[in-house]
Amino acid sequence: MAETQVVRQNVLRDEGRLPPVPEPGAMVIFGASGDLTARKLIPALYDLAEGRRLPMEFAVVGISRTEMSHDEFRNRLRDGLEEQRAGSVSEDVWESFSKGLFYLPGDSKKPETYEELKDFLKKLDGERGTSGNRIFYLSSSPSLFPTIVERLGEAGMSREDDGGYSRLVIEKPFGRDLESARHLNGDILRYFREKQIYRIDHYLGKETVQNILALRFSNGIFEPVWNQHYVDHVQITVAEDIGVGTRGAFYEEAGALRDIVQNHVMQVLCLTAMEPPVAFDADSLREEKVKVLKAVRPISEDEVGEAAVRGQYDGGWVFGEEVRGYREEKDVAADSETETYVALKLLVDNWRWAGVPFYVRAGKRMPKKATEISIQFHKTPHTPFSGPDTEGLEPNVLVIRVQPEEGVSLKIGAKVPGSGFEVRSVNMDLLYGSAFMEEAPDAYQRLLLDLMLGDPTLFIRADEAEGAWSILQPVMEGWSKDGHAARYPAGTWGPDEAGELLGHDGREWRRP
Ligand SMILES: NC(=O)c1ccc[n+]([C@@H]2O[C@H](COP(=O)([O-])OP(=O)(O)OC[C@H]3O[C@@H](n4cnc5c(N)ncnc54)[C@H](OP(=O)(O)O)[C@@H]3O)[C@@H](O)[C@H]2O)c1
Repeated sequence: MAETQVVRQNVLRDEGRLPPVPEPGAMVIFGASGDLTARKLIPALYDLAEGRRLPMEFAVVGISRTEMSHDEFRNRLRDGLEEQRAGSVSEDVWESFSKGLFYLPGDSKKPETYEELKDFLKKLDGERGTSGNRIFYLSSSPSLFPTIVERLGEAGMSREDDGGYSRLVIEKPFGRDLESARHLNGDILRYFREKQIYRIDHYLGKETVQNILALRFSNGIFEPVWNQHYVDHVQITVAEDIGVGTRGAFYEEAGALRDIVQNHVMQVLCLTAMEPPVAFDADSLREEKVKVLKAVRPISEDEVGEAAVRGQYDGGWVFGEEVRGYREEKDVAADSETETYVALKLLVDNWRWAGVPFYVRAGKRMPKKATEISIQFHKTPHTPFSGPDTEGLEPNVLVIRVQPEEGVSLKIGAKVPGSGFEVRSVNMDLLYGSAFMEEAPDAYQRLLLDLMLGDPTLFIRADEAEGAWSILQPVMEGWSKDGHAARYPAGTWGPDEAGELLGHDGREWRRP
């Protein structure tokens, strides 16, 4: 780009007429030969480069044990990108982007890896102008997180005393229970201050998840009815049609409660239930989310049987294809009781939500992939229409579809055309895609950009991570004493017990 053009762009950015570009810097990825790096992180960075949202003075340094040269690393990432982008990789963008990709083979447990890294980063500061700014992205196995943090701290790389920033990104899962999450926070906070730490839940990077906030707080009509006076109950569904695939070993250790509910579902619940924040900044938003977590009534161990359901899929049919049961999956124990489905009834004990149940569920091998929040309103107190005329009428439901078919629909009563006065429920539907005529960026793209810009609003604070674990800890303890997961055939909406969870309250699950 010509120098005058660059100067002009900088002026426009300073005036807020062009989106900001992060400062120069280097991103070190621990776990660089892994799946997440190839499938999510590099494609997101490439997209940022394509959209001119990366500074020229930017570098990625990948670390893992596999021996590779810089060029082998670049070729491997290029292959991953081609797979993701189905051949639409621009040669020009790739050429300039890939010049900033580097690889250091090394064991992240060994102190010498960090000495080598330090020297390499210094060299990059000189050669690529990365200015001493560092992001350390932990994308390796979670069991290595404490060691990497300690080694970084011991090598003095968490310090920001020579002017550059040092930021730490932690992938999920953040611990595997309350105690391990507290330990992990303690380990990290020995070396990094909270403002340097970015705990990722990629759900917060999704446009539609952010749209929960836009819908609630940029419209005057929803907030007055967003409370126990008008809302009967709320349902949050995170359904996947896929099974565990090749990730059986990982899933055996995790299960749906740890993998999906502790992070994604609890975050969505917070955004749905929180009070309006005074501003859209990190402290204001996270303060309100933590208040929700504090208000959720923990399910005591004695109540686990009534308020929590866990299930595991057997063989069945999904989209016309016969699929095997969880216990027949690769790397899964033949007598495994790991849950592939969870349903919980949660109560939020505050003025706004007293008495309104939040039913949440997450499962694999459901009939379809769907993430949605549905706000189910009370029935009308009285209808002037006759009984038979209102048989097809249901209470109003506002559905926020996070994925797929991202959008919002409102179920309302409408008159059936004709001479009588039959009324029936119909949907008013908004598809975000057709409203804006452009595709939403991938969640990682948004989060990586915020990270480089130093904006932690869409990342998890220490007390949020622990707050979510505190709610689920008694459920995990209750389950550990009674070893059975209810069965459900693949391709169905979970075990019968999940239906009974709502059935007891005279309600039923929505079919997404
Ligand atoms: N994949 C996803 O879709 C996804 C989604 C959400 C969150 N996550 C989280 O992201 C993280 C990474 O996941 P992943 O799927 O990419 O895992 P993965 O494919 O198993 O990759 C793990 C990486 O860690 C490296 N590694 C292991 N031990 C090492 C050591 N001692 N020293 C240096 N490197 C070491 C491995 O490389 P070498 O064997 O070459 O050393 C590999 O690059 C995990 O925390 C996961 O929970 C992943």
